[in-house]
Amino acid sequence: MNEQATTPVVRRVDARHRYEILVDDQRAGLTAYRDRDDRRVFFHTEIDDAHAGRGLAAVLVAQALADVRASGMRIVPVCPYVAKFLKKHGEFADITDPVTPAVLQWLDGQLGR
Ligand SMILES: CC(C)(COP(=O)(O)OP(=O)(O)OC[C@H]1O[C@@H](n2cnc3c(N)ncnc32)[C@H](O)[C@@H]1OP(=O)(O)O)[C@@H](O)C(=O)NCCC(=O)NCCS
Repeated sequence: MNEQATTPVVRRVDARHRYEILVDDQRAGLTAYRDRDDRRVFFHTEIDDAHAGRGLAAVLVAQALADVRASGMRIVPVCPYVAKFLKKHGEFADITDPVTPAVLQWLDGQLGR
């Protein structure tokens, strides 16, 4: 009998501008972005209630940010969760850019708000 939890899987879904985390092949959460040239602007992260409080957001964001680095891009943390994650995990400081009013205005336009 195998009672171990399955390892969550993170995938980038380019068409939806987001990374998703899957548990047992079911989507358990996402972190959403828009790309501004070589900057990946993260603006929202959510984990479904059924999976909350187990560290999934940290797994999701860690793998998303590693993918940004692998893509040769930079990070802009508009999402408060991503911003908090980056404060705790200094290894991405070299590829992180500040959130500026210009980025926020651009993001509003991208999101139609
Ligand atoms: C925030 C959220 C993604 C965390 O997911 P999770 O997998 O349950 O996260 P965990 O329980 O493992 O970790 C909780 C961590 O998230 C942090 N957190 C919770 N809500 C947060 C918020 N609104 N903004 C920033 N950080 C938040 C907690 O402070 C905690 O940080 P710590 O690890 O340093 O103690 C989830 O609670 C959620 O979907 N919330 C609703 C949407 C939301 O508020 N998203 C964040 C802003 S876009």
